[in-house]
Amino acid sequence: MLDHFIKKGKKYGYLKDNHWLESSSGEVMLSISPINNEIVGYMQKMTTSEVDETIKSSKLAFSSWKNQPMNIRVQILKKASRIIFDNTALITALIIKEIAKPYNEALDEVIRTADLISFYADEGSRMIGEVLTSDLFPRYTKSKTAIVERVPLGVILSIPPFNYPFNESAPKIVGAIISGNTVVLKPPSQGGITALLLGEIFKLAGLPDGVLNIITGDSSVIGDFAVSHTDIAGINFTGSTKTALHIQKTLEKGNRLLPLLLMGLGGKDAAIVLEDSDIKNAALNIADGAFTYSGQRCTAIKRVLLQDTIADLFLRELKNIVLKKYILGNPNDKSINMGPVINDKQAEYIESLVNDAISKKAVVICGGQRSGRYIEATILDHVSLDSKLAWEEPFGPVLPIIRVKNVTDAIDIANKSEYGLQSSVFTSNIDTAFEVAEKLEVGVVQINGKDSRGPDNFPFNGVKNSGYGNIQGAKYLIESLTKLKTTVVNKINV
Ligand code: NAP
Ligand code: G3H
Repeated sequence: MLDHFIKKGKKYGYLKDNHWLESSSGEVMLSISPINNEIVGYMQKMTTSEVDETIKSSKLAFSSWKNQPMNIRVQILKKASRIIFDNTALITALIIKEIAKPYNEALDEVIRTADLISFYADEGSRMIGEVLTSDLFPRYTKSKTAIVERVPLGVILSIPPFNYPFNESAPKIVGAIISGNTVVLKPPSQGGITALLLGEIFKLAGLPDGVLNIITGDSSVIGDFAVSHTDIAGINFTGSTKTALHIQKTLEKGNRLLPLLLMGLGGKDAAIVLEDSDIKNAALNIADGAFTYSGQRCTAIKRVLLQDTIADLFLRELKNIVLKKYILGNPNDKSINMGPVINDKQAEYIESLVNDAISKKAVVICGGQRSGRYIEATILDHVSLDSKLAWEEPFGPVLPIIRVKNVTDAIDIANKSEYGLQSSVFTSNIDTAFEVAEKLEVGVVQINGKDSRGPDNFPFNGVKNSGYGNIQGAKYLIESLTKLKTTVVNKINV
């Protein structure tokens, strides 16, 4: 059903009012596969006046979409979910090609997205508000009844990152539209065609014109323009802290109150492994946590704070697992769990972090080699606190081990990070686990398991430079993308 849309080397349009259009700029940008440099397709480089017209069309669509009955919205989301289930193989192949995600993870991204869209349809229809009576408050009788409803905000500018082009775009779309907002989606340049496919899916599912528009082009041109557009009621951004700070600066230059801002940003998630932990469980979780999709996940475990009494034992276990499971190869091969990183610039940055750590006496436990974008699963022991790798986010398959004497030191180092996304603690003592969880300055703490955003009904938010606002978790995102509207009925003569 989607075969008509995906063609190798195609020039994809931008989406306005359910029409795929070419930009008057006559310019396009390339989507190149990180696997082998194959051209996946081209996307339009829109002009700012085209972006302006597209945002205005989303605003116009809002006036009718906000009044659409919930059962119609639910039907459209359910249909979109079904279309995805029916086209799993095609979408999976596109994700693999565009962002080099290994087959099993790409397939998981597709199925998870179909489930997510269906789940949001159900969750949205449960958001019906509440009724309050005034007698709850001291010195009042039942003279007043408040009907508290959740109403949409308007046009939401949604900006997803490259690493989950399908699954990070989807909640940004459905969280907004199920609650009556309209969406302008600005996909990442890498992974952009996968995000465009969602536009075709919702068009086929019967979403009315303008409820989902998609703009493409140079972020420095259309990104800055869209972010500061006065018709944008909210910005739902997921990406690096650097881009978020840039967006913040762009907004500060404007002459209006800030729109709603939801920011899901970078992380430096620490896994704290204590001497009373189940070493096998910790090693299995940390291997997957660090090297799934070559570490290109915001929730990847990006440093291990390891109690030195068990360090050698733990590292032997971890190395064995990693050497067996995380062998580099072509992500199309179903037996391969690790492919190349997203681009050359990122590969060079990752390598520079490794070299810096080694120059400061880190010891290579495994990996360490790079060929172009292909980087081996790399574990470095004895990473010193003056290494960049102890603090910066590599977004690659590199895991620094920092040995610590005790749990206090571990918490201290974990909290010194500028980031605060997730952390995990491995221990068999539940009291210690809760004590550590309480002290860690992060949005989510995992006890005896790897860091992870899902399941997608759980809240997911960062603190410090990892962001703010509830950007995930169906109920919480829908709450974020709506505001309260209260109508009070006053009884006469009471
Ligand atoms: P990125 O470079 O910051 O890009 C994120 C998005 O912002 C892309 O769509 C990008 O488009 C767009 N963008 C760039 N400049 C912009 C501008 N001036 N105005 C508007 N939009 C602009 O991040 P990334 O490399 O795609 O993703 C990796 C980062 O995201 C990591 O730091 C990771 O930890 C973080 N992340 C966080 C979460 C979370 O939920 N906390 C989830 C996933 C990823 P272009 O591609 O065209 O530049
Ligand atoms: O990259 C950031 C994603 O939100 C992580 O999601 O934990 O499901 O891989 P995940």
